This record gives sequence, structure tokens and C-alpha cells, in this order.
Amino acid sequence: MTVDDFWPILRDGVRARRPSAAFGLRLDGRLDSAALQLFELFKPLLDLGRTSDGWVIAQLGQSLDGCVATRSGDSSFINGSESLLHLHRLRAVCDAVIVGAGTVAIDNPQLTTRRVAGPNPIRVLLDPNLGLSEHVMTARPFNDGQAPTLWLCDARWRDRAVARVGADRVLAVNDLVRDDTTLHLANAVTALRSRGLTRLFVEGGGVTVSRFLAQGCLDRLHLAVAPVIIGDGRRGLQFTGPARLADCPRPPCSVYPMGPDHLWDLDLRAST
Ligand SMILES: NC(=O)c1ccc[n+]([C@@H]2O[C@H](COP(=O)([O-])OP(=O)(O)OC[C@H]3O[C@@H](n4cnc5c(N)ncnc54)[C@H](OP(=O)(O)O)[C@@H]3O)[C@@H](O)[C@H]2O)c1
Repeated sequence: MTVDDFWPILRDGVRARRPSAAFGLRLDGRLDSAALQLFELFKPLLDLGRTSDGWVIAQLGQSLDGCVATRSGDSSFINGSESLLHLHRLRAVCDAVIVGAGTVAIDNPQLTTRRVAGPNPIRVLLDPNLGLSEHVMTARPFNDGQAPTLWLCDARWRDRAVARVGADRVLAVNDLVRDDTTLHLANAVTALRSRGLTRLFVEGGGVTVSRFLAQGCLDRLHLAVAPVIIGDGRRGLQFTGPARLADCPRPPCSVYPMGPDHLWDLDLRAST
């Protein structure tokens, strides 16, 4: 079986929370090598669906020197077409794709599954203090009609957000921002889950993925590393880490070749 034949089966398996063991015997010897790699890559998500109420995965496409964009914000495209296909596959198995305000302001992304067969996720624009007020009315996700979009902010800004985009497009979360600065992303995850959005994909940018990572809100992280050097670009992972190298996390990981890139799949649940 080729990737094209296998992808819809795998996608529906993740969405239906079918454990990887349920595929085992049926697939034995039937997958070609590319389809087998696809199965291995998505296997953790199949198994997370069985053991938890929901999961959160993040992905960053980055340079060898850890940048997700140049200093001007240009990130199209760091990765090759195989990695972009993978990105769209992740969208297709998730209920919601989350991006930070900086990404909306700079990229104005569509966040659809146009490169693969599969449903578009709900688009979630994470904007705790409504930094996007200037951009939100023209942001593609609020105008292209391709999938529902939520503007996710702290509850104190609910009325202002509703006045801009309407109540059905606002998710105002209690206690998302504390002491005016500290974000509590677990509250955002809980609010999304309470709407039935249990498979969550944090797609960037670097600040947003780093905040989810530092707050222990990620189950897995995919880093698609491309053979390019950017220099003084926008950082991918960035947070205050331990002072001692011995205290830095070394999560279990697997590496998959993806065209010219290499995809690192990090198991963050095992390291917490
Ligand atoms: N290669 C990839 O995988 C990938 C994926 C997505 C995006 N990107 C690139 O990443 C860059 C954006 O990522 P990022 O880490 O800077 O941000 P981000 O994670 O998308 O968003 C969070 C940051 O945006 C700031 N922000 C809030 N409102 C804003 C506004 N109106 N305009 C600009 N910024 C605003 C926030 O400030 P506060 O801290 O004050 O809230 C926060 O620092 C873009 O260049 C995009 O092209 C790359």
C-alpha cells in the first residue's frame, strides 16, 4: 500500500482514537517503505488518543541555526515540500490549529489542509491582550470562509473582541493572563477542550510554541530542520532554561528523513 492509499486510513484512525495496535496485523507486510514511515511517525498520536482526554502537538520548521524566519519575518518557505505536506497532515488530524498573534500579523496564514486530503481544522488565533485589533478584520481566517475561526483572548477583553468579530468567533478565557503579563496556557487548553476541541496543534511562531513548551502544555514537538542557515533571524525555541547542562531536558526522540529536511519527533510527555 502506498502513502496515498494509506493516508486516509491513518488520518481517520487518529481522528477516531484508534490505537496503533489495531492497525498492526492488518498492515503486516502491506505497506511500502514510505507508508511504513508515515505509520511510525503518527503512531504516537494514535496511542495518545487512547490514553488521554486529548493531546497537544506543536511543530516548527526551522533552520540549522534554530530560526523560524529571517529578521524581517520571512518564513516562506524554510522547509521543502515533503515537510509542508507533513504540516498539512498534522492539521488534518487535529480539531484545532493554534497560531500566535505575531504569525497572524506577519504571515496572514490560511491554516488549511489544501496540500492533503482531510478536513480543515478550526483556526485559533491566540491573542491574549488583543494585540491583533488592527489586523483581525482583514485576517484571512476571518474572511476566507474555509473553516471556523476563533479569536482567543483573556476574558477581560471579551466585550471588545465580541464587538469586533461577533460572539460566535470569540473564545474569552478566564485567567488566561495573570498579573497583566503571565500567560496560563493550560487554561486555554482546558477552554478549547470544553468546546470538544481535544486534538490541538500549535503551529507557531517561535514565541508561542516556546510558551506552550515551557509551561508543560505539549505532549509532542515536531521540529522540521532544513539545511539552511539564517543568522540573525527570529528564534524558534526561546525560553529561560536551566543554568546547568545536566538539568536540561533530553526528551526521547526519533528522526525521520523528509526530502532535504529531517523531522525530529520529541516525546515531551516522557520527559516530564
Ligand atoms: N517556520 C515556522 O514553523 C513558522 C511557523 C509560524 C510562524 N513563523 C514565523 O514566525 C514569526 C512570528 O513568530 P513569533 O515567535 O514572532 O510570534 P508568535 O508566536 O506568532 O506570536 C506571539 C508574539 O506576537 C506578539 N504580537 C502580539 N500582537 C502582535 C501584533 N499585532 N503584531 C506583531 N506581533 C504581535 C506577541 O507579543 P506579546 O508577547 O506582547 O503578546 C508575542 O510576542 C513570523 O515571522 C512567522 O513567519 C514560522
